[in-house]
Amino acid sequence: MLSHHADDGKRTSLHGFWSSRMAFILAVTGSAVGLGNIWRFPYVAGENGGGAFVLVYLVCIVAIGMPVMMSEILLGRRGRRNPVATMELLGREEGSSRHWRYVGLLGVIAGILILSYYSVIAGWTLSYVVKSATGTFVDASKAAVIADHESFKLDTLAMSLVHTLFIGSTIFVVARGVERGLEQAVRFMVPALLIMMIVLLGYSITSGSFATGVEFLFKPDFSSLGWNSILVAMGQAFFTLSIGMGAIMAYGAYLPEETSISGASATVVAADTAIAILAALVIFPLVFANDLKVDEGAGLVFQTLPLAFGQMPGGAFFSTVFFILLSFAAWTSAIGLMEPAVAWLVEQFNRSRAQAAVIIGGIVWLIGFASVFSWNIWREFTFFQGTVFDNLLFLTNQVMLPIGGVFITLFASWVMCRNSTAEELGGSGGLYKAWRLGAQVIAPLGILTVLFFAIKSAVS
Ligand code: PHE
Repeated sequence: MLSHHADDGKRTSLHGFWSSRMAFILAVTGSAVGLGNIWRFPYVAGENGGGAFVLVYLVCIVAIGMPVMMSEILLGRRGRRNPVATMELLGREEGSSRHWRYVGLLGVIAGILILSYYSVIAGWTLSYVVKSATGTFVDASKAAVIADHESFKLDTLAMSLVHTLFIGSTIFVVARGVERGLEQAVRFMVPALLIMMIVLLGYSITSGSFATGVEFLFKPDFSSLGWNSILVAMGQAFFTLSIGMGAIMAYGAYLPEETSISGASATVVAADTAIAILAALVIFPLVFANDLKVDEGAGLVFQTLPLAFGQMPGGAFFSTVFFILLSFAAWTSAIGLMEPAVAWLVEQFNRSRAQAAVIIGGIVWLIGFASVFSWNIWREFTFFQGTVFDNLLFLTNQVMLPIGGVFITLFASWVMCRNSTAEELGGSGGLYKAWRLGAQVIAPLGILTVLFFAIKSAVS
C-alpha cells in the first residue's frame, strides 16, 4: 500500500497535488460553473416567481453554501483520500465512528445520478452547437425556434447520440488523468464565458424589456413564495456550488497545505454567483421582449438565447461560440461529478483510473437513458414531481445534496476537534469563528428547517 504520511507526519494525497493555488481555484470554479448557472438557475427562478426566490437563493449561497464548501475542502485536505475513505478515516481518527463513510457513499451515488441527467442536458448544448453553426436560428421566428426545440426533445435517437457523445468525452478525459487539461480548459473557459455573457447582456439591455427583466429578478414578492420554492432555492445553491456530494472534498484532497480555504471558497462562490446572475439578467429581458413564458422550465435557455442570437448581426457565429463554451463548462463540471466515484474505485478496489472511468461512466450512461426517455417515449409516465427526469432532479438537488451538507457541516464542526479544524482553516480568528458558527448552527439548522417545512407543506 502507498504511504499516507509524508516525512513531516502529514498525510499526502495518493494522486498528487494541484500545481498551484490557482490550479485548485480553477478546478473548483470549473466544477461549480456549468449548466447549473446558465441552464438551471434562470429556469427555476422563472418557475418560482423571480425576486423573492432569487433573494432566498442568495441567502442560501452565503449562509449555507459558504460554510458547507469550506467544511468540504477542509475534510478533503485533512483526509487526503476519496470522500468515502476520507470520512471513514477522519471518523475513526477523531474518535467517532467509521460509519461516517456512508456520507461519502451517499455523495458517490448522488454524483452518479446527477451526472446521468447532466449529461443529457449537456448533450442538448452539443446539438445546439451544430444547430447554431448550420444557421438554424438565423432570422428564425419565435414559433420556429420553439418548434425546433420541441421536435428535438421528441427525437430519442438524436438525444441518445449526444448524451453518448458527452459522457464518452468525459470518460476519455477522466481516464487520462485530469489535472493539466482541466486547468487549461478552465483558465480559458471561465473568462470566455464571462465575456460572452457580457456581450449578450449588451444585447439584452437594448432589447426594450431590460427594466421588466430586472424588476422580475430583483423585486421580491414574498406572497408567492412557498416552502417548496424555498427548498428549490436551497437545492439550487447546493447544485450550483457543487457541494454536498464530495466533489469539492475530492478536489480538496489534492490541495497543498498552505492554501487558504476561506479565500479559495470566497473566490469560487463569487465567480459562480456572478455568472448565474448575469445569465438571468440576459435571459429575462429577452423572455419579456419576446413574450415568452417565464415558467417555461428546462427548455427556457434553449428557446430564448437562440431566438436572440438569430436576430443579432453575426448571430450564427456568436451562438456557436456560446454553445461551445457552455458545453465546455458542462464538461468541467461533469469531471467533478465523476471524481468521487472514480477516486473511490481507484483507491478502494485497486482499479486503474481508466478502468474506473469506464465503469462509472458506463453506469452513468445507462441511467442517463431514463432522462433521455423522459422527454419522449416516457413523457406521459409521470409521478410525484413529474417525469423520471424531474424526480431525479428533486431527489438529488432537493434531498441528497442538502442531507449530505448537514452531515458534512456537523462532522467538521462538532465531531472534529477544534485543533484539527483551526489548523486547516489557519488559526482561530474572526474568520474561523464565523465558519464555526455557520457550520455548527446556521447551515445545519437552516437546511433541516427548510426540509422540515417543505415536507410538512407537501403532505398537508
Ligand atoms: N455545479 C455544477 C453546475 O452548476 C453541477 C455540479 C454539481 C458539478 C455537483 C459537480 C458536483 O452546473
